[in-house]
Amino acid sequence: MLEVKNLVKAFGGLVANGDISFELQEGEVLGLIGPNGAGKSTLFNCIAGYYKPTAGKILFEGKDIAGWPPHLVTREGIARTFQGMKIMPNLTVEENVMIGAFCRTNERQVAKKEAREILNLMGLTEFGKELPSGLPISVQKRIELARAIATKPKLLMLDELAAGLNPLETKEIIRTLQRFKEERKLTLFLTEHVMEFIMTISERVIVMAAGKKIAEGRPEEVARQDKVVEAYLGERYAKGR
Ligand SMILES: Nc1ncnc2c1ncn2[C@@H]1O[C@H](COP(=O)(O)OP(=O)(O)O)[C@@H](O)[C@H]1O
Ligand SMILES: [Mg+2]
Repeated sequence: MLEVKNLVKAFGGLVANGDISFELQEGEVLGLIGPNGAGKSTLFNCIAGYYKPTAGKILFEGKDIAGWPPHLVTREGIARTFQGMKIMPNLTVEENVMIGAFCRTNERQVAKKEAREILNLMGLTEFGKELPSGLPISVQKRIELARAIATKPKLLMLDELAAGLNPLETKEIIRTLQRFKEERKLTLFLTEHVMEFIMTISERVIVMAAGKKIAEGRPEEVARQDKVVEAYLGERYAKGR
């Protein structure tokens, strides 16, 4: 479904993504892990059209989408959530989700119906008419997820979806995510800073450190590699081995 080939993204002298290549199969759950500053969000931003790659190819279903603007990437079927969440503070929860739906329709009623359906499946109906700013982080994360799903993606990319959530909330959002994945036949690509979340949900993981891809494989294989332990897992995991 997705093939990234020799992707480079430099900010002046800083190479945030240095020659990254990988593939993602339809229906797969691919995790991307690495310490802060490894270049995970940059990679997402390149794929989703928020950053223009310095070099390389991004093939989505065979089309090279590298350098396309975000709205066209979204229309091709790639949606993403933001690490810092990008919820519109002066729109209601329902309207925020409608924004996603407007990617596929110009009809307000159609967008509203789609938004309500997703909010219902997310257990967010009670918040539909509220403004998002006063709501708990766990609810705001679900709004962010709902808006991405409202664009009817084939590939859903989640940037640190579990950041700021407690273990129970994390479990809940994983369950929600897995349900949508089944029902809507989504392919998932997700980053996480916190190991535990991504290791349980991913079928395969890529590890990045300092802009480079340093490992790739099944979660339990990757977690055992010394270079991964050194670069990322650090003291906490290393101690437990
Ligand atoms: N828009 C930008 N301008 C300049 N530097 C950036 C920009 N975005 C990211 N970077 C830099 O790229 C590196 C990787 O950042 P990022 O992709 O956010 O890492 P991660 O998501 O893995 O924590 C960092 O050094 C960061 O400061
Ligand atoms: Mg990031």
